[in-house]
Amino acid sequence: MIRRFDFGSPINTGAVVRALQAENGPVPHFATEVKEGRVTFTISLDRDDIIFGLGESVRGMNKRGHLYRAWNSDDFSHTENKASIYASHNLLLFFGPRKLFGVYFDDPGAVEFDLGYTRGDTAAITSENGDVSVYVIEGESLTAICREFRGLIGRSYLPPKWAFGYIQSRWGYESDPELRQVVKEHRDRHIPLDGVCMDIDYMDDYKDFTWDEKKFPDLKKFNQDMRADHIRLIPIIDAGVKQLKGYDTCDEGLEKGYFVKKADGKPFVGAVWPGRSYFPDFLREDVRQWFGDQYGRLMDQGVEGFWNDMNEPALFYSEESIAEAFAVADQLRNENLDINSAFALKDAFNGTANSMADYRRFYHEVNGKTIRHDKVHNLYGAFMTRAADEGFRRYDASKRFLMFSRASFIGAHRYGGVWQGDNNSWWAHIKLNLQMLPSLNMCGFLYTGADLGGFGCNTTEDLLLRWLQLGVFTPLMRNHSAKGTREQEAYRFANWEDMRDILSVRYALVPYLYSEFMKAALTDGMYFRPLAFDYPADDTACRVEDQVMLGGDCMIAPVYEQNARGRHVYLPEDMLMVRFRSAQDYDLTPMEAGHYWIEMALDEMPLFIRRGHVIPLAKPAEYVEGVDSSSLKLLGWLDKSVTITLYDDDGYTTAPDLEKGSTAITVTVVGEAASAAGEGLTLNTEDLIIGE
Ligand code: GLC
Repeated sequence: MIRRFDFGSPINTGAVVRALQAENGPVPHFATEVKEGRVTFTISLDRDDIIFGLGESVRGMNKRGHLYRAWNSDDFSHTENKASIYASHNLLLFFGPRKLFGVYFDDPGAVEFDLGYTRGDTAAITSENGDVSVYVIEGESLTAICREFRGLIGRSYLPPKWAFGYIQSRWGYESDPELRQVVKEHRDRHIPLDGVCMDIDYMDDYKDFTWDEKKFPDLKKFNQDMRADHIRLIPIIDAGVKQLKGYDTCDEGLEKGYFVKKADGKPFVGAVWPGRSYFPDFLREDVRQWFGDQYGRLMDQGVEGFWNDMNEPALFYSEESIAEAFAVADQLRNENLDINSAFALKDAFNGTANSMADYRRFYHEVNGKTIRHDKVHNLYGAFMTRAADEGFRRYDASKRFLMFSRASFIGAHRYGGVWQGDNNSWWAHIKLNLQMLPSLNMCGFLYTGADLGGFGCNTTEDLLLRWLQLGVFTPLMRNHSAKGTREQEAYRFANWEDMRDILSVRYALVPYLYSEFMKAALTDGMYFRPLAFDYPADDTACRVEDQVMLGGDCMIAPVYEQNARGRHVYLPEDMLMVRFRSAQDYDLTPMEAGHYWIEMALDEMPLFIRRGHVIPLAKPAEYVEGVDSSSLKLLGWLDKSVTITLYDDDGYTTAPDLEKGSTAITVTVVGEAASAAGEGLTLNTEDLIIGE
């Protein structure tokens, strides 16, 4: 059951798709205080209460004990002290001996989440603008609450099936020959690959929807050649449109008044990669339509996927903020810079980026009303993604396109996936990657993953290998790194064969992972869950921060520590451990519930299958289109016969049918042997372990 309570004058953020009448009266569970335009919701916490939620944010799955702020921020250093990164996913789930409910704060402005930070026994959530719809979600379990919430916010985005392949990316890839070389290096070594990203350098002078014709003399032909090799090109699109006379997107946007404006009616100018830029007012339907149609220029060349970036929006500086910084510099030019003035000078320039003053300088038009940007800041990226999705549908309504964005708000989960932004080549960020997965899933973002190997800093071969071992399970599996860092394509390293072998596991699992993803998406379920969702009565399980449930049958527990030869694992029930070295080289260990230290050499990775469950494994392939889903090996630990269902489709359809796409596989256990039957499938049951 969901109840809605409104405060102030909330605007329609597009997060919620189910109309629900707002009620008067107190919000259940919370004490409410309206003060100086802000509204605060307070709840006391029992010692054992856990708070899940907040989607993409730092720290653990249990968010209790820290301070977070919904404020989409371009921040390339995801350290524990950060209150905000790129997304605002204002869902919390309270779970404890006397608590079980969810609460969603539908507010496009800044919201502070003090979750036991100021006082360990109190959570206080403050809407800084005071205009918020609060949805309280009751249900009999965490899973039921999430399903209910997902019904409120609408079905998750469905990527095409090829987007479950491995994607290689790097900021710095410049040209057609360079990208062909990257693909060749993979293909020559039989390292699987399905896509390559084109970062900003493909553009002509960082102009959206253009490409440098010297570096890409025939983009269509390039794309065709890549497609023949089962590779998709995935270009980036940035939110800012370069300020340049004669650049048609800029000229047209100016002429039609499509860019956000300042109080004086002049378009706001902020700088990003192309230098001074304008920012489309994505909150307007006509602007979305215009911008969304521009993707067609690249789709006309055969492109089937994009990533949207810099859409918090990121601002390096504005005309105003840079002028102010130079004024400070001029004033201090001949000074003997001391403790105060030296920092004042630095701060003047550092402060030009993503400044609150700038976010207050421009306005949006929302249904005929003019709204200052900071009041709706967290919607900007979501509406850019929506513009893209609407454009894709107009272009070809019969097909799914790949889209993943950096900034997001709940609601954008219907239009695209997200990647987890500019992480670093730090071991701690493998764990952070893992912890964000279930939290994002709660909020509807099922298609997600982080930059494998780390974006900033120099990676190492062991770090990349361990990270790939987690990436095997993330729907978006992309290796991406920043310009200037060590090159980190799998083939750059002496142990590339280990990387290839780990990638073979991904491809063998594609039929299963795709099936579990689609089932989750089509039933408002979760692909990744904290253990608490499946074992709510097991307090140890509820507090596990480095293992997550995957689909209906598995648990993952990646090794994420430097030089570790294994890790501690907690099994809440009996499970079969599969120790993979490659898709064809693995061993199986039935393990009873309990605590274990598992040895896991650098080239090995574990997967845990719940006892009584079975998962399929395909033969390895070098691209998703080459995965043969009709010939499967079955892995599991069984005592009795079971029936599993496997979902599949053409990988493109926008009208997937769960029933039609499902195949039942019945595994029959007789004595110490098993046999399996499924229509149109060749099944091999050698790897089913029967009984004790
Ligand atoms: C941003 C993105 C990153 C990209 C870079 C250059 O930092 O987050 O992924 O490589 O911009 O476009």
